[in-house]
Amino acid sequence: MIVLGIESSAHTFGVGVVKDEEPYILADVRSVYTPKSGGIHPKEAVSYFIEKAPDTIVKALDEAGIAIDKVDAIAVTLGPGLGPCLRVGATIARALATYYGKPLIPVNHAVAHVEIGKLIFRFKDPLVVYLSGGNTLITSLSEGRYRIFGETLDISLGNFLDTLARELRLAPPYVVSGLHQIDRCAQEGRNFLDLPYVVKGQDVSFSGLLTAALKLYKTGKVNLPDLCYSVREIAYSAIVEISERGLAHTGKKEMLVVGGVASSPVLRSKLEAMASVRNVNLGIVPPKYAVDNGVMIAWTGLLMFKHNISVRPEEAYVKQRWKIDQVDILWAT
Ligand code: FE2
Repeated sequence: MIVLGIESSAHTFGVGVVKDEEPYILADVRSVYTPKSGGIHPKEAVSYFIEKAPDTIVKALDEAGIAIDKVDAIAVTLGPGLGPCLRVGATIARALATYYGKPLIPVNHAVAHVEIGKLIFRFKDPLVVYLSGGNTLITSLSEGRYRIFGETLDISLGNFLDTLARELRLAPPYVVSGLHQIDRCAQEGRNFLDLPYVVKGQDVSFSGLLTAALKLYKTGKVNLPDLCYSVREIAYSAIVEISERGLAHTGKKEMLVVGGVASSPVLRSKLEAMASVRNVNLGIVPPKYAVDNGVMIAWTGLLMFKHNISVRPEEAYVKQRWKIDQVDILWAT
């Protein structure tokens, strides 16, 4: 069984082709839109995607060495994400499915981040620490859905780090040679400053830390590396604490870390230390698959298709706020 997957929820127009047996991944082609300044401009992203889509699809089919009529199904991200961006992928996928008479598989982007991680580490039932630009949550499979066992009460860790770096005039660019500007600046820090650490039950909060850090910076009395160092230690420790609580609560013996924000070496080493103390098998998705890609959509589509999940093209609407816990995970129960 071969599935072609299309991802277009944010920066990346990605096309993946996967098979239900080794080597699983047959093609992975990505066209990544980079804004000239600031965050994503949806209009610009949409024109970029429309321009790149045909070539990206053709390249993926070439890489897989397969003609499109030999693909068994077309999978597409329908949400969550930016509406205009999602609509480009959805429109193309609907057209392909209709024209070639292929089943169309509606994939949730967050579920796909988890499923590709499970494939990479051959995990069966992990606690998932999901750290992307838009999300900070702890989730795990329970009674057929990825239930949320902890999350941020306000902004995500990624959003927190980016906003702080921007306000401190350390960014953009936010990440240089795989290291976030806050991590980079923190390397020279030595003194730990008194800033709020907020964990409430199994949830975490970063907006108070952001406000307090900026207020302190504006006094002109603190050393910038000390500020970054203190913020880094607080923010990452809070993530480790809610991850550990999630493990204690669910009793899972595997921990999967997904999303681009987990590439921080300091956060990784903290999570590794905690996992080893708890004797938990830890898998941190490597950067190549932690960021958005079409392979994760194709792979999740394949799992869904095996359970006869598909959608009629005329009903394949995008759902910008489609949450991970709204999807029935039939293939993992
Ligand atoms: Fe993503």
